[in-house]
Amino acid sequence: MRFLLLSILFLLLKADDSFITKYEYAKMLYKNPRGIGCYKCHGKYGEGKIIAKYKEKNKIKYIKAPDIRNISFKKFYKKLNSQKIKTVMPSYFLTRDEIEALYYYLKKVNKK
Ligand code: HEC
Repeated sequence: MRFLLLSILFLLLKADDSFITKYEYAKMLYKNPRGIGCYKCHGKYGEGKIIAKYKEKNKIKYIKAPDIRNISFKKFYKKLNSQKIKTVMPSYFLTRDEIEALYYYLKKVNKK
């Protein structure tokens, strides 16, 4: 009985999976890429935004997450696949497929 319930649950979850489109999957990943969502720094559409403001020697300085709407896939991939520390942006451990999906999302969402 328990096994049957688990099987049904599994099937339901699987069925659910196939309901989401590539776009929805990509959007979800952009929001929640196993880490801080990209949108929190790069904005909803990858347009970039100021993420911090501080004062140094009486001058106001900004930390800005860049616009990532129009960069090449090569550059995009390289950045997401690098585990360099000492950058503001956190490191992610994403597969190539996931990086492709993120790139696809940004292309698609900015086409409108
Ligand atoms: C905590 C804020 C933050 C988060 C979250 C974040 N980024 Fe960034 N990102 C930055 C900053 C700041 C830079 C530029 C400086 C650097 O490399 O740290 C950057 C740089 C980039 C670049 C390189 C842009 C260029 O022109 O070279 C890409 C591509 C990028 N981010 C994509 C992403 C994606 C996709 C995600 C989600 C998986 C993400 N970022 C999450 C802050 C963030």
